[in-house]
Amino acid sequence: MPVSTGQASFMCCRQDSIVMEPARKLLRSVEIDNGTFTLTLHREDFSTLYPGMIRYELAVTSGGQTLDMFRTNTYEYSVPESLAAETVALMKADEWEHELRASREGFLAAHHSGARPGRKETQETADVVIIQGSPRPDGNCGILAAWAADAAHTAGRTARVIYPHDLDIHCCIGCYQCYNTGICIFDDDMAGIIDAIRGASLLVVCSPVYTNTVPGSLKLLIDRTQAYHAERALSGGRRGQSGLLLAVAGRTGGGNFTCVTRVISAFFENLGIKPAGQILLDRADAIRDIRTREGAEQQVKDAVRQCLT
Ligand SMILES: Cc1cc2nc3c(=O)[nH]c(=O)nc-3n(C[C@H](O)[C@H](O)[C@H](O)COP(=O)(O)O)c2cc1C
Repeated sequence: MPVSTGQASFMCCRQDSIVMEPARKLLRSVEIDNGTFTLTLHREDFSTLYPGMIRYELAVTSGGQTLDMFRTNTYEYSVPESLAAETVALMKADEWEHELRASREGFLAAHHSGARPGRKETQETADVVIIQGSPRPDGNCGILAAWAADAAHTAGRTARVIYPHDLDIHCCIGCYQCYNTGICIFDDDMAGIIDAIRGASLLVVCSPVYTNTVPGSLKLLIDRTQAYHAERALSGGRRGQSGLLLAVAGRTGGGNFTCVTRVISAFFENLGIKPAGQILLDRADAIRDIRTREGAEQQVKDAVRQCLT
């Protein structure tokens, strides 16, 4: 008999993080092998995160230990198949129940591997993480990134420059599977980048204007932080991080930065990063070398220092 918890979805504040607590409804609960195993299927309402997002969580437990878990959500499926997530979850529940009843040893061998995909920790953390978004390693953004790192070191902080153009970053394919686990399906350099962002107190983004927006390799990185957004919504995330934008444009006028500033502000907002300022340097085509722009170095270093105090 379905049981409803009767509670609504809400955002729960833990000490330094916000966690999404979805309304959960028990769709199925089956005792197998005289209660040795319990198979449960829950329907979780994530509509406060995304309109209409429902996640199904299937679990087999024994003696208080979860032997295996399967999750799927409605956003994984295309519009004509809006009921597919529930159908898939129910089919999976039938399949697991059948496997368990047929052979508990067979089920345990197949499911109790302990090798569920988890978040891989990397050691390369730093207080200040600088994303150098230009494909040109030694161009204007490379110089801005070096100034930012220098200011961080002067303030006694560790700094790390990330250069997305040189990294293996698959584009986000919008599969929404990260909302099942908080982890992206692609195993590439993004996991390390997300670790770095997670650990930083200040994130500095250096971007040139490319066709009115950010370069493709930087956009790849930004889109792939959707998995970090999912992780934060599901398990909580840090608060109190700041973000600084340093941008250069070839043309003259502040209007050239309209899209870049919007993209980066959405990026920061998505990750709960508080915007701490922006330095927008136009007419950078004419000079080609931002070091010749009077006062620019000091302006960047002052901004980084202020963010760290
Ligand atoms: C593909 C491409 C597109 C660009 N599009 C614009 C643009 O739309 N508006 C603009 O003001 N500058 C544009 N620029 C000029 C760059 O923003 C400018 O040269 C900048 O200083 C480059 O920074 P970097 O040295 O860090 O690569 C473009 C440059 C390239 C290579």
